[in-house]
Amino acid sequence: MSEKASQLNGPDHIGIIMDGNGRWAKSQGLSRIKGHRQGVETCRRIIEACQDLNIHYLTLYAFSAENWNRPEIEVNGLMELLALFLMEETRTLKKQKVRLHAIGRIEDLPSRTKAALKKAIKQTKDFDEWHLILALNYSSRNEVVDAAKAISQKAAEGKLNPENLDWETVSSHFYTDSLPDPDLVVRTSGETRLSNFLLMQSAYSELYFTATCWPDFTRAHLEEAIRSYHNRERRFGRTGEQLDVETGLSY
Ligand code: FPP
Repeated sequence: MSEKASQLNGPDHIGIIMDGNGRWAKSQGLSRIKGHRQGVETCRRIIEACQDLNIHYLTLYAFSAENWNRPEIEVNGLMELLALFLMEETRTLKKQKVRLHAIGRIEDLPSRTKAALKKAIKQTKDFDEWHLILALNYSSRNEVVDAAKAISQKAAEGKLNPENLDWETVSSHFYTDSLPDPDLVVRTSGETRLSNFLLMQSAYSELYFTATCWPDFTRAHLEEAIRSYHNRERRFGRTGEQLDVETGLSY
């Protein structure tokens, strides 16, 4: 989709930093893992809502490369939850015709989670209208490092001339190669930072922050974020007047 079309009709791709599971759990007197479990229910709700709202791409930041630093019990709980989600949800994804993708250093995930992920990806690979992208063991900085390694390897083998490097070639080495950039990035729980999420891809994304914790995030909150998106003017470096001319709004 062109930049202009996505501005008029979008967002077509929403990225979500699902934050606040722990604080939500604490506020309810529950364990952190129960907060994550409730977060999984929100994922199900939002995947469905995206289809109703004609959002073709949804990227969920489910586990960052930095999340390995959490207590072992929480990391193991999250990996188990992910495996369960994938095993249970694949049937629904197939029914909804949603293609699953994963971005991040997938090979380093525990074998049970990785196996469930690969199976779900394989079983949904022929769908091409709706896309759910899970960012797992993901870090934008690692993504740049991995792309730089792949590019230098190709240069060393004479398969690529560094003189000809441009953004298209560089970004084709990112985990997100076949995916469009997010139009809108949402973060829940009141934090206002990107925490290593899609930093290159969100260069021109609109950002939306809400105080609502992820387990409490509903379709109505998503609609509110989309309304906010529609009130923005995405200029991609151009002037407001240029955009008016391009969209026929000049007088
Ligand atoms: C941030 O909340 C959330 C995470 C680190 C994990 C997100 C994972 C899920 C919602 C469940 C698994 C996902 C899928 C797609 C099945 P936090 O723990 O940092 O909350 P806090 O900042 O309040 O402590």
